[in-house]
Amino acid sequence: MRFFARAPGKVIITGEHFVVHDSYALAGAINRAATVEARANDSMEIFSRNLALTASYPRKIPSSLAPIAEAAAATLDFLSLKKKVKLVIDSDIPAGSGLGSSSAVAVASVAAIFALAGEEPVKQKLVELAMISERMVHGNPSGIDPSVSSYGGVLLFRKGKAPDLLRLGRPVEFVVAYSGIVRKTSRLIKKVSSMKETLPNLFKALASSSTTLSKIAASSLTSGDLQTLGSILNFYHMILGRLGASSKVLDSMVEAALSERCLGAKLTGAGGGGCVIALPEPSASTNVLSNLSKISKEAFVARLPVEGVRIWQK
Ligand code: PMV
Repeated sequence: MRFFARAPGKVIITGEHFVVHDSYALAGAINRAATVEARANDSMEIFSRNLALTASYPRKIPSSLAPIAEAAAATLDFLSLKKKVKLVIDSDIPAGSGLGSSSAVAVASVAAIFALAGEEPVKQKLVELAMISERMVHGNPSGIDPSVSSYGGVLLFRKGKAPDLLRLGRPVEFVVAYSGIVRKTSRLIKKVSSMKETLPNLFKALASSSTTLSKIAASSLTSGDLQTLGSILNFYHMILGRLGASSKVLDSMVEAALSERCLGAKLTGAGGGGCVIALPEPSASTNVLSNLSKISKEAFVARLPVEGVRIWQK
């Protein structure tokens, strides 16, 4: 018998960075995912197909796989599972692109071990265990990525609280475009957070506005008011740019998206490089996709909502 779990990546729709400082944020699972197989094995092993790398754990583990090894060890411990486990990881989410690749791998790894143990995973427990890996990768993350990966759908999220799962009036399509520029989330969190020291009152006002705007964006999604949502996306891109999270490449991608039949566009996630999301006018996804495909490494349509982590055996 073989045991598998598949966990989706994510886009942050509104509220990145401010969510680290206790504001609300809105994020959705996307049709890119990590799949992990957990097998009983003679020794503890991790094989990443993407990195073409096999490693034994807990010893002799390279830094790229150490966070997953830590989360796996904590999961075995939590489940009191005495078996040695091999994890086989496969993902179609570009690493370091702001689409939640590390979280999806962590959530799928933890969930696959639950499957091997014959245990039905509780979503919040998966988030908790995946956070062991996420803290090693990102420093002090909000937890939004593993929450979206685990619960799926579209979440209104606040650090340390159970997320609100939105009921969308109808599915919504975003175009996701990847700049091809890999960046480090922890460095960008530090850069943006520095404003908290230099301009504390302004930062406080922006963080509180981010909560209000994320809640309005959530209502817009549930009611299908895409015009309002588009304006909010544009506003965020401007503010995140002022805070140092954008770049020339991301700005030109946003501009290209807005040049034709697009209601709003912004960087998504930590920024610096990574991806932008664009909200096309109804039935204009193909136009926006074609515009963005010309200037990005990779672009695709993400139709929300998408299910969260899933486990199976065969
Ligand atoms: O994983 P990324 O790079 O998409 O960043 C997540 C968004 C941040 O708000 C910048 C960090 C966090 O932990 O919420």
